Amino acid sequence: MNADAKTVLATDHNGLTSLTPSLPSRHYYDAGQYQRELEKIWYRHWLYACHAREVLGARMFRTVEIGTQRVVIVRGDDGVLRAFHNTCRHRGAALCTESEGRLQSGHLVCPYHAWSYNLAGDLVRATSRHLPEGFDKAALGLYPVAVREWAGFVFVCLSPEPPPFERSFTDGSVTRLDGWPMQDLVVAHTLVKNMRCNWKVFWENYNECLHCPSVHPGLSKLVPIFSRALMEERDDPEWAANRASGDPRFNDPKYRGGLREGATTWSRDGISRVAGFALPPEDREAGHVYITILPTMFIAAHVDYVRTVRLRPLGPEETELRVEFLSTPEILADPAFDLASVVEFTSEVMLEDAGVAELNQQGLRSIAHEVGVLMPEEYAVYNFQRWVTSELSRP
Ligand code: FES
Ligand SMILES: [Fe+2]
Repeated sequence: MNADAKTVLATDHNGLTSLTPSLPSRHYYDAGQYQRELEKIWYRHWLYACHAREVLGARMFRTVEIGTQRVVIVRGDDGVLRAFHNTCRHRGAALCTESEGRLQSGHLVCPYHAWSYNLAGDLVRATSRHLPEGFDKAALGLYPVAVREWAGFVFVCLSPEPPPFERSFTDGSVTRLDGWPMQDLVVAHTLVKNMRCNWKVFWENYNECLHCPSVHPGLSKLVPIFSRALMEERDDPEWAANRASGDPRFNDPKYRGGLREGATTWSRDGISRVAGFALPPEDREAGHVYITILPTMFIAAHVDYVRTVRLRPLGPEETELRVEFLSTPEILADPAFDLASVVEFTSEVMLEDAGVAELNQQGLRSIAHEVGVLMPEEYAVYNFQRWVTSELSRP
């Protein structure tokens, strides 16, 4: 099997041109492999931590766990958002024991021996009658973690040398949502599920639609090209010939992609009954815009709400799925906006995906199944697996 990207990826459409192996099965449950992926991927990349509104005001904090690492994110009285390893410099106790809240004082105080740090991370008080000679308070500040806000979301990076933020975007377009009112959005509903699968299994499922007709019958009606097991027009090897033919049949969403005729959003009946966001016309037309930020999240943006999906590895065979539904306060207050329909429909799709991810994980455990194969439509799975492999090979 040839795994050379140049020869495997088709150039005239999205697809694989030759039989290509999947990743070895043990990469989805082996503890050593999982640890390598934490160290080389999860501890090196920008990770979605929380929505910016959760740490909007001074002294608001939030903790997040990534693998074995704990991070505290806190906004200082100076309005600056900072992040630190949630570890005291004395003997290493966890500092913040709550997952979120607002600090009473402008200090983080260790619950063990009460060392105290200001919100810039400086040690301001060490509890001992006599500070030993050579004790340098200035050198014992909290360990910093890189933090940044983008589009109303807070990201952290555990690496002392964070990669350029744009590099996390698989299509390279950190500006793709610039025309969207991202800063105005609030979280209206959250769905959390612990999936019994490796984190890569969920991403692989996200990267193909071969499963759509059988796993997502409802969604495949709303997005007709999914019923053909394709994600978009260019996934069809015949797409250029179809267009050139001038046959009006190929103008149908079943071939072109997008939502079914008359539908405007992802919900039970597909109809948005509110004015929606002021959007660039092509985004409104598309019915959904997807942004993928590896390894941590994807965003599905619709005309009247935005959905974020965050993954967090909890173990070799356990991954937390967190889905947030966001919109503007105006849309959420509009009685014509049916949040329940949006949540019900989309949660159904997410749980269908979580279900097959767990099935996938179960089968991968077979001692007979050392490796799988990728079908031509699984080009994005291939690209994801290449990304994982190349990240693991970095020094
Ligand atoms: S471990 Fe924090 S004060 Fe002792
Ligand atoms: Fe799916």
